[in-house]
Amino acid sequence: MPVNDARTRGILLVGCGKMGDALLRGWIASGRAAAGVTIVDPVATSAAQWRGREGIVLAAGAAELSPKVAPAVIVLAIKPQVMGEVVPAYRRFASGGAVFLSIAAGKTIAYLANLLGPEAAIVRAMPNLPASIGKGATVMCANAHVGEDRRKDCDRLMAAVGEVVWVGDETLMDAVTAVSGSGPAYVFLLAECLAEAGIAAGLPADLAHSLARATVAGSGALLLESTEAPSQLRQSVTSPGGTTAAALSVLMAPGAMTALITRAVAAATVRSRELAR
Ligand SMILES: NC(=O)c1ccc[n+]([C@@H]2O[C@H](COP(=O)([O-])OP(=O)(O)OC[C@H]3O[C@@H](n4cnc5c(N)ncnc54)[C@H](OP(=O)(O)O)[C@@H]3O)[C@@H](O)[C@H]2O)c1
Repeated sequence: MPVNDARTRGILLVGCGKMGDALLRGWIASGRAAAGVTIVDPVATSAAQWRGREGIVLAAGAAELSPKVAPAVIVLAIKPQVMGEVVPAYRRFASGGAVFLSIAAGKTIAYLANLLGPEAAIVRAMPNLPASIGKGATVMCANAHVGEDRRKDCDRLMAAVGEVVWVGDETLMDAVTAVSGSGPAYVFLLAECLAEAGIAAGLPADLAHSLARATVAGSGALLLESTEAPSQLRQSVTSPGGTTAAALSVLMAPGAMTALITRAVAAATVRSRELAR
């Protein structure tokens, strides 16, 4: 085993809210020993459940950290709005060969380097909510100071909660955020719309909601297991002149669903760029 990687030097998880907690659960579920993980989170709620468990160490702030803490990876899982005020307290780790793995939406590598110093090794990642059940999709981008070992550390940590893709061009992260980062919300909206449409078509509300939920969840699971493209799966359930074809003639009309989703993703991409400023 390498003696200088995240398995031996440990991980510092800054922020243990929804995503931080999901990542930690994924690491433990994938067999990574949690001993060596230090959590920094000021609030007792979600982080407190980890106190004394699996050898995890808890701290309420950077000032509380023992000088012996020398993590290989510092995972920044705090809200983008507090990054500017919180991150400089971790600057001392930048010279110790650690990598900063930020999952904050919209915060660029240049922004982080400004807080951590020009030599800091930084990986910008965009995960998504299904990471909480190990079915996430994460896109990552590294700066030139990230060596092969630290890149592997980051890859292992995010692969524990789903698929990982690396990109070399950071400007892609805005569109990534718009597609996979925000994407789960679009799918949940689809389930809401399907339920409302079922109610409008005469179904009792309870039945409409449970059918919509099971249909979206089951179709997602099928898509995940299948090797076929979504368009092939769609065609395989569409008989010419049948009920599905009648619905798709509305959804696939010019200016309908494709145009709507394209506009939605474009709006999210613009917003991601704005947040980076
Ligand atoms: N949720 C998603 O689907 C998703 C997807 C992709 C990326 N992200 C990114 O993941 C990051 C975290 O999002 P989230 O949804 O997990 O937010 P969250 O649930 O609010 O978690 C953030 C955690 O950080 C804590 N915190 C605040 N100040 C801190 C400090 N000084 N030091 C350490 N911890 C501190 C918060 O405590 P308090 O609650 O007391 O403030 C909270 O427990 C964000 O940057 C977001 O852009 C989230």
